Amino acid sequence: MLITPEEIGERVRELGQSLSRDYAGKDPLLVGVLKGAVVFMADLMRAADIPLAADFIAVGSYGGTTRSSGVVKITADLSVSIEERHVVIVEDIIDTGRTIGYLKRNLETRRPASLRVMALLDKIERREVEVELDYVGFTIPNHFVVGYGLDYRGRYRNLPCVAVLEEEPRG
Ligand code: IMP
Ligand code: MG
Repeated sequence: MLITPEEIGERVRELGQSLSRDYAGKDPLLVGVLKGAVVFMADLMRAADIPLAADFIAVGSYGGTTRSSGVVKITADLSVSIEERHVVIVEDIIDTGRTIGYLKRNLETRRPASLRVMALLDKIERREVEVELDYVGFTIPNHFVVGYGLDYRGRYRNLPCVAVLEEEPRG
């Protein structure tokens, strides 16, 4: 176990308070990145005590995983316009940075009033593309992790903690 449910809960509450402070009166739109950010998003929304809206976007990659190809595409788009909205992208983990880099560029073209990124986990050693992260829950070492929304081949998303997968996948 790398991060306990209690540690996650405490940090998510702090992130919710930061959002409430920074976005008071701005009616922000949180954009959760499917599927990994679903658990984080659900807790984060309830940790914020300001009016906000939520939407989701799904990303995939050409030819397998983002880890192998590094080429990202949107597989399910937002259901609302983000023009003139204060948008916060909510991600589970930033690894190479390719996914969030692509998403930021894509959403920026839709003319939001502002665009920031919140990630629960940051695996900073693995970064290949430089991206500015506005809010980070935890910086973690270079291990493949699962739980609290993060998966290995679709499993382990429902673990209440963040854990290191013992047989680490290559990629
Ligand atoms: P990036 O484009 O390399 O930054 O990778 C981003 C995506 O890869 C994340 O949103 C996750 O879906 C997945 N990913 C990267 N590292 C891990 C991990 O340790 N566990 C589970 N998924 C991961
Ligand atoms: Mg993800």
